[in-house]
Amino acid sequence: MRAQEILSSLKSRRPGHTLPRAFYVDPAIHQFDLDHIFYKQWLFVGHDCEIPRPGDYLTLQVGDYPLLVVRDRAGAIRAFHNTCRHRGSRICSAAKGSSVRLVCPYHNWSYDLDGRLLFARDMAKPFDPKTLGLKPIACEIAAGYVWICLDQAPPDFEAFRAAMTPYFAPHDLGNAKVAFESTILENGNWKLVWENNRECYHCSPNHPELCRTFPEAAAISGVAGAVDDPLISEHWARMEAAGLPSGFRMSDDGQYRMTRMPLLHDATSYTISGRDAVARPLSGEVTTPAIGALLTFHYPSLWNHVLGDHAVSFRVLPVGPMQTVVTTRWLVNAEAVEGVDYSIEDLTKVWVATNDQDRRIVEENQLGVASPAFEPGPYNRIHEGGVIQFVEWYAATVERALSGQGRAAVA
Ligand code: FES
Ligand SMILES: [Fe+2]
Repeated sequence: MRAQEILSSLKSRRPGHTLPRAFYVDPAIHQFDLDHIFYKQWLFVGHDCEIPRPGDYLTLQVGDYPLLVVRDRAGAIRAFHNTCRHRGSRICSAAKGSSVRLVCPYHNWSYDLDGRLLFARDMAKPFDPKTLGLKPIACEIAAGYVWICLDQAPPDFEAFRAAMTPYFAPHDLGNAKVAFESTILENGNWKLVWENNRECYHCSPNHPELCRTFPEAAAISGVAGAVDDPLISEHWARMEAAGLPSGFRMSDDGQYRMTRMPLLHDATSYTISGRDAVARPLSGEVTTPAIGALLTFHYPSLWNHVLGDHAVSFRVLPVGPMQTVVTTRWLVNAEAVEGVDYSIEDLTKVWVATNDQDRRIVEENQLGVASPAFEPGPYNRIHEGGVIQFVEWYAATVERALSGQGRAAVA
């Protein structure tokens, strides 16, 4: 399928209905999504507290690109293509590690943490190591969240940073620690993963653990109605009086949103009882009880929940037309001690179960959508407003990318 065919298929889609089948199965559209979304937009990588010391690094794969994110000697976080400038081997293969230098395992070319080539044995003169440093990638940190962009001229990041920081800063996530991380492969297109995330129409039949504390009200997961709901507006007023920005904030282009929502029965945390925290408070600055969950999304790679005692971030990366990797991290106070202040089981129980339930849902959705008999069905306008909003963002971003108006701005 050529780009113009993809564009005309998007433009002629039925409003309020799912995308046509090809958008969930076609390898050409998968490549198109990589080229126009994942290789252009800012992507969430992980948390800066995961790589606290010089030489600490993490790696990830975005489409065809192996990438490396490392803390340099001066304490700054940098991102590089994880591809040696000799004959191209991947330099770091571990998901995470620490090293005083970045040494390619193939012939031991060695790079400094700032990407400079330091050593290449027995190369004939003339040889200029200055031209053979690791290729850098745009990298930004916002409130402890690390972002990269593969595009040579990345879209603006500052509007997102300015919008996000007041909501996140009180939780001090730059000084938290990742207590647990899970990576699951879902046999579903990345857009199905997002569509499932952006509604809770499916929650009561599928998520018994999450539904103990997380409201399935359309106003919570959707895009409208929250301001008219007195439960929510009272929660915002109480939180904002306590110094916690909470109101609904979405970028003009719909790429990201922040809002702080109440949990059921003034629950403290995502547990079966909902009553007790699973860890000591994330931040000494936040002592207000029952703050609910700060819910954030940033298309196409992050959704996120921040509670009083822990935070959970979810990173979405496509690995094929019908495969997506979701990496979940649970963050707690850096001083919290496992076995004393929290247990991994209590901390992770609800979202480990919920993730697995969502994986199954997405995989069944994918199998059904892949049928030649599938035709786009109607979204539920009450409960699936968030899904419609995601699909509109996707279509508008693609249309902008292809219509010569340049890339979609972050804000
Ligand atoms: S490919 Fe890296 S040192 Fe040869
Ligand atoms: Fe779900």
